[in-house]
Amino acid sequence: MDRNLALEFVRVTEAAAIEAAKWVGRGEKKKADGAAVEAMRKRFNQVDFKGKVVIGEGEKDEAPMLYNGEIVGTGLGAEMDLAIDPLECTDSVAWGRYNAISVIASGKKGSLLCAPDTYMEKLAVGKEASNVIDLEAPIKDNLKKIAKALGKNIKELTVMVLDRDRHQEIIKQIREVGSRVRLITDGDVSACIATCFPDSGVDVYMGIGGSTEAVLSAVAMKVMGGEILCRFKPKKEEDVPKIKAYGIKKLDKIFSADDLAKGKELSFTATGVIEGPLLDGVKFEKNRIITHSIVIRGVSGTIRYIKTYHHYYK
Ligand code: FBP
Repeated sequence: MDRNLALEFVRVTEAAAIEAAKWVGRGEKKKADGAAVEAMRKRFNQVDFKGKVVIGEGEKDEAPMLYNGEIVGTGLGAEMDLAIDPLECTDSVAWGRYNAISVIASGKKGSLLCAPDTYMEKLAVGKEASNVIDLEAPIKDNLKKIAKALGKNIKELTVMVLDRDRHQEIIKQIREVGSRVRLITDGDVSACIATCFPDSGVDVYMGIGGSTEAVLSAVAMKVMGGEILCRFKPKKEEDVPKIKAYGIKKLDKIFSADDLAKGKELSFTATGVIEGPLLDGVKFEKNRIITHSIVIRGVSGTIRYIKTYHHYYK
């Protein structure tokens, strides 16, 4: 991927994050998401490239903008696949809770998994434990192996899980082996990727979350040598034919980071909206706005943190 294009994408996530951040705590979920979507689409269309959204806001009939299949960019330059979430964690923004980002992942045409927006079961770890996890193994076996690979006592492991009723059994089993559980209200992209940063305090992520979020996480994690194993868990019966229509015939197939994001020409760009395990959020000052972003490039493996001061005169 073109180096400058990776930096152009930061401008896109910054714009979406700033617009979303204006809605923090206002209880307006749709308006927060709409503001991020509109800003992302507008900025995308100023960038010289031809991007196809392969997984993101949803099907055309449910997402008026940035729907799966939508082409963005000026049309000049490189063709690429995009996985996007203009506002990952609309609820966190609407209710002013922890953890929200604006995010774009890109890859060569045909490299990212195309799928409807439904659920997937996920298990994610950083590089050191990447070869020891098994989505079909009991939780206690996975945690024992992960602890060994990380050189930690199982009691020192921290497992991040979305706070949902459907995860009660997982949480019980994690507690039974003595590991620590950190519950988050939203945001499994940041949680999965955080496992690749030893100082994030997150060793493992597990649970059921969005399929778009799985592809977004996989792009960053693959470049950093982590692993995310996933399997479709359709949200509703109607999702089954939709998944199959994307050419995914075996619903119980286990996808690795490499299956979700193929090749090396990958990029991951995110800007924090509200602070979380990966990034700090948007800060409004008197005449400026500060954003915090991360750019990860597959070809070089570089990880850049970008703090931007935007002049802002009301
Ligand atoms: P949104 O960006 O759609 O608000 O998703 C937030 C999120 O917490 C994701 O991080 C996660 O994958 C998904 O929701 C879980 O879905 P649900 O809220 O239905 O349990």
